[in-house]
Amino acid sequence: MYFGVDYYPEHWPEERWPIDAEMMKQANINIVRLAEFAWAKMEPEEGVYDFAWLDRAIEVLAGAGIKIVLGTPTATAPKWLMDKYPDMYPVDVYGLSKGFGTRRHYCVNHPVYRDYSKQIARVMAEHYRDHPHVVAWQIDNEFGGACYCQSDLHAFRIWLRKKYGTIDRLNAEWGTVFWSQTYRSWEEIILPVYSASDGFSQNGGASSLLSTPYNHNPGLLLDYQRFFSDATAEYQRLQIEEIRACSELPITHNLMGHFSELDYFDLGKDLDFVCWDNYPNTMWGKSSPASVSMAHDLMRGIKNQNFWMMEQQSGPCGWHSMGDTPEPGQIRLWTYQAIAHGAEGMVYFRWRACTVGIEQYWHGILDHDGIGRRRYREITAIGSEIAKLSPLYLHAKNDNAVALVKSYDNVWSHRAQPHNLKFSYDTLLKGYYTAVAGHHVGVDVTSAETDFSPYKLVLMPAFNLMTEVIAAKCEAYVASGGALLVTFRSGTRTWNNQMTTLTFPGLFRELAGVELEEFDSVNFGRTVGVNGSFGEGTASIWCDVLKSNGAETLAEYSSHYYNGTPAVTVNTYGKGRVYYVGCDLDADALARLAGIILEREGIAASLPKAYEGVEAIERIAEDGRAYLMLLNHNSEPVEVELNGVYTDALSGEAVEGELSLEPYAVHVLLNS
Ligand code: GAL
Repeated sequence: MYFGVDYYPEHWPEERWPIDAEMMKQANINIVRLAEFAWAKMEPEEGVYDFAWLDRAIEVLAGAGIKIVLGTPTATAPKWLMDKYPDMYPVDVYGLSKGFGTRRHYCVNHPVYRDYSKQIARVMAEHYRDHPHVVAWQIDNEFGGACYCQSDLHAFRIWLRKKYGTIDRLNAEWGTVFWSQTYRSWEEIILPVYSASDGFSQNGGASSLLSTPYNHNPGLLLDYQRFFSDATAEYQRLQIEEIRACSELPITHNLMGHFSELDYFDLGKDLDFVCWDNYPNTMWGKSSPASVSMAHDLMRGIKNQNFWMMEQQSGPCGWHSMGDTPEPGQIRLWTYQAIAHGAEGMVYFRWRACTVGIEQYWHGILDHDGIGRRRYREITAIGSEIAKLSPLYLHAKNDNAVALVKSYDNVWSHRAQPHNLKFSYDTLLKGYYTAVAGHHVGVDVTSAETDFSPYKLVLMPAFNLMTEVIAAKCEAYVASGGALLVTFRSGTRTWNNQMTTLTFPGLFRELAGVELEEFDSVNFGRTVGVNGSFGEGTASIWCDVLKSNGAETLAEYSSHYYNGTPAVTVNTYGKGRVYYVGCDLDADALARLAGIILEREGIAASLPKAYEGVEAIERIAEDGRAYLMLLNHNSEPVEVELNGVYTDALSGEAVEGELSLEPYAVHVLLNS
C-alpha cells in the first residue's frame, strides 16, 4: 500500500532534499506527491520550461525507494500568464474580479486558460512519460466553485442550447412566463448574478447567503450550477486527454469530501481513482467522527471503488490561526478510519511546515525546524503497521446493506430554496448517516444511479427533484423486496426545479401509501411532539400532515393542530416496504427510529450494543478474510462487548467477549 506525504522540494534548499528523503525512508514512506503548485518554477517564462530541479528532486527521492504522484500545476497560474490575459481572473456574483495572490485565480471556461492548461499538462506528461518512478497523476488541485465572467456566460448559452434545443423549450422548463422573464434568443440568456431582489434584507438576514444571491428563477439557478459542474469536468477532461496521449498511468483529482459545489459523481467518471483531502480539526472547525466517516463513504461511493487519501491532516492546521494539535494516537486513528472506509493509499499533508506563504501555520509531520518529533514517530509506527497488514486493506470491500443516496442536483435545489431557514439537505443526510452508523451498521453513500438491488435498505431523505426514471427504479427495487425510506420534501419537484402538480409526495405517493393534506414549516422556536414506536421525539423544522392510504403508522404527532395524525409510516408495496418520515426528528429520536427500522429489515449490527464514539466496521479482504476494524474516537477508554471470536491482526492474540478500547485505540480483528 502506498504510504506517503505531500512534499514541496521547491520550498527548501537542495542540500536538505537527501536528508528529507532519508527521513522519509526511515518513516516507511514510499510515495510523495509533487509539483501541483509549481507552474512558475516549471515554466518561469512563457514557453521556457525548466524541469531540471524537479528531475533532481525525483532522483533524490527515488534513491530512497520513493515513488511519485505528479500534480499538474493549473491551480496556480503564474503572474506572466495572468498579466497577459487579465480577463482570466474569476468574477463573483457582484461582477468583482478576484485577483492574484492566492490560488484558483482562473475560470475553467476561459478558452485561453484551457489552452495553457492543456499545454503545461502535455509538456509535463511528455517530459515524464515512461519515467520509472512516477506512478500516478493528479489533475489540478481541489476544483472549486462558481465564476460569473463573460467566458461563463458564453459557455452557459451553448450548454443551454445543447440541453434544450429551442429557446421555447427553455422558457417552458424555466417557467419564464413568471415576471416577464421570457427570453427571445440564446443571446438574451443571463447568468444568475446579483439581481434587483437580492441583498441582505431579502435573504432573511442570513449573512451566509450574501455572497451567493438566490433570488432568481429556480430553473436558471439549478441549470447554472449543473453547467458549472459540467464545465469543470470538461476542463479536467481536457488535461486528462493530454496526459493520456503520453501515459497510461492512473489519473486522479483530489476531492474535498462533503464539498458540494460540483457533482463529484460526474467529476469522478473520468478519473481512474478518487482521492480526497481530509482535515478533521482546523481553524475553521472540527468535524464529528461520523461526518468524516460519511465523507469517506461518499468518496468510496463516487466510483463504487476504494480511494486514496491525498492529503490527510498530520499536524495543527490553519492559515491565520490553528485548530487543535492532534493528540497522541489521533493521526493513527484518522488513518485507520480512512482505511476502514476504503482508503488504500495514505498521503499526509504535509511533510514539513513551511516558513513562507499563507500556509506557514499549516503544520505537517515535521515542524519548521525539520526535526522529527512525536508526530514523526507516530507516522513511522503507522507506516510499519500498514506495511505488515496492507494485504488486508488493498482491494478490500465494505459490503454494506444500507445505502444513503446523495444527489448534487438536490443539494443545489434545496440550497437555493431551503423551505425553512433551518433546513439543510446535507445536514439531514448527515443526520440519517449518523443515526444508522451509530448502530454499528455500515452505510454506502451513493448516487440515485447506483444499482439498489444489493441493498436491504435505501435511504433517500428529502429527494426533492424527481424523475419518472428514478421513480420506476425505486418501484422495481421495492416491489422485489427492498426497503426504501423517504422523508418530507421528497418528490415535490420536477428535475428542472418546477413544483410538481402531483399530490405530494408526488412520484413517491403510491409507493409510500400516504399523501399530504398539508404541511407545516416549523418556525420561531416552536417544536412539535412526535410519539411512536421509538418513544418520544420532537420536530423543529418541518412537519407533513399526512393522510394514510393504507400505510401503517409508526409514530404520530403529539402536539399542534395535527396532534394524533401520522408522522412516520411504513407501507407494504409488492414484496418490500416504504418508510415515510414526515418530519425532522431530534438526533436521539432519529437514532431510535433507525434502530427500529434496521431491526424490522433484519440488518445486523457489527456489535451487540451501540457505543457512542466507537466505530465497528466490517470488511472483507481481497483473499476473502473477513475482519472488523474497531475505532475509539473518544479520549476515554471504552469497554465493548463483541459479537464473535477474533484474532487481533497486529498482536496475534485471540479476542472474544469484552474488549477494552484505550483512548483513540484502533483494533483490526480477524474473524475466526
Ligand atoms: C488543501 C489544499 C492544500 C493545502 C491545504 C491546507 O485544501 O489542497 O494544497 O492548501 O488545503 O490549506
